[in-house]
Order: sequence, then structure tokens, then C-alpha cells
Amino acid sequence: MKIAVVGAAGMLGSRVVAEARHRGHDVTEVFRGTALGGLMSEVDAVVAATRPRPGEESTAGPTTKTLLDAALAARKRILVVGGAAPLRSPNGGLVLDDNRYVPTHIRPIAAASVRQLEVCREHAANWVYLSPPALLEPGERTGTYRRGTDELLTDPSAISAEDLAVAVLDELEQPGTDRHFTVGC
Ligand SMILES: NC(=O)c1ccc[n+]([C@@H]2O[C@H](COP(=O)([O-])OP(=O)(O)OC[C@H]3O[C@@H](n4cnc5c(N)ncnc54)[C@H](OP(=O)(O)O)[C@@H]3O)[C@@H](O)[C@H]2O)c1
Repeated sequence: MKIAVVGAAGMLGSRVVAEARHRGHDVTEVFRGTALGGLMSEVDAVVAATRPRPGEESTAGPTTKTLLDAALAARKRILVVGGAAPLRSPNGGLVLDDNRYVPTHIRPIAAASVRQLEVCREHAANWVYLSPPALLEPGERTGTYRRGTDELLTDPSAISAEDLAVAVLDELEQPGTDRHFTVGC
């Protein structure tokens, strides 16, 4: 499969690139400023692993819309890796509003990820949105994970970026039926 990874230099994007290459896929790395038009038509699927810089959280929605527009124009499936905030908290309500998972200082990026999913839901592209659990950090590749739908996985609510990349590639290779799903270790 030919896969474009947008945000390829990032914490998660770089691991998606590594996992895809490990499985023998042909990867195109996409960075800020890379022209998308012709590129999208040459791949089979797109992974969006972008994250706005601190203070630029309002760009998350427009960035996602640009990627969705390009995927739609090229008729390609796009997997958007977003945030945990749009998931339902086990205690009710959104994770965004649960301060056990979203302390005040990360609320701007958390709210941006809620907006990002809204942009997807309003869009006609063939998208799927992957919400990480509360904690997503570099770590070990175990190759295993739990999969859920739109409720935060807990006990623990965590996964390594390496295993999230495994889940990304599994979803690309064998698409599920959920438009919004989550994973955890
Ligand atoms: N628990 C959670 O919910 C959780 C935790 C961590 C991450 N995440 C999510 O996981 C995703 C990836 O995060 P990360 O930690 O890997 O972020 P990261 O390390 O900051 O990497 C993001 C990459 O995206 C690039 N980028 C930003 N805007 C772009 C644009 N418009 N076009 C092309 N590239 C762009 C950045 O490039 P520049 O260096 O040029 O800015 C950077 O290389 C994000 O959606 C993030 O919110 C969720």
C-alpha cells in the first residue's frame, strides 16, 4: 500500500512511518508546506498526525479541513489521529470536561481536538478518527492493544506511540466499521 503520512517528523508520525515501512508499505512523508494536490492522487491512504504548535490551537480545525478536502478530491481514505478529549468519559460527559484527564493547561489542545472531530463529522471525505487514550508517549512496541469505540479506555488510559502506530496500520490494512475509535494498552 502507498501511504502518505502528514506530520511525518512528529512524535507519532515518525512512528507511523517506521511501522508502515516495517510492514513493507511505500511511505510518502509529508511535512509542513508540502504541496498535497498531486501527492494525494499517488497514494492509497493518508494518515494525518499533525498537531498545532502551542498557541496555535485554532489552526487544528482548518488544517484538518485542508487535509480532508485533499483526500476527498483524490478519493482517498484518511485516518486522522486526534485527541482523547472528544471521547466519552466513563463518568459521563466528554473527556474534555473531565479534569482528571484534561487539566487546565492542556485544555486548549484538548478543545482543538474536539473541534477537529466536528470538522470530520461535517465533511464528506472517507475519514476515520482515532482518539488516543489519555496518555500517549514514546515507549515500547508490544504489538498488542485494546480497541474501543467512542469511550475512553481506562485502567490504564495509556498507550505507547509505537503501539498506537500498530493500531493505525492495522486500521489501514483492515478498515473497521467505526468512524471514531480509540485504543489503549
Ligand atoms: N492523549 C492525547 O490525546 C494525545 C497525546 C499526544 C498527542 N495526541 C495527538 O496525536 C497527534 C500527533 O501528535 P504528536 O505528539 O505526534 O505531535 P508532534 O510531535 O508535535 O508532531 C506534530 C507534527 O505535525 C506537524 N504539523 C503541524 N501542523 C502541520 C500542517 N499544517 N501541515 C503539515 N504538518 C504539520 C508538525 O510540524 P512542525 O514541527 O512544523 O510544527 C509536527 O512535525 C495530534 O493530533 C495530537 O493532538 C494526542
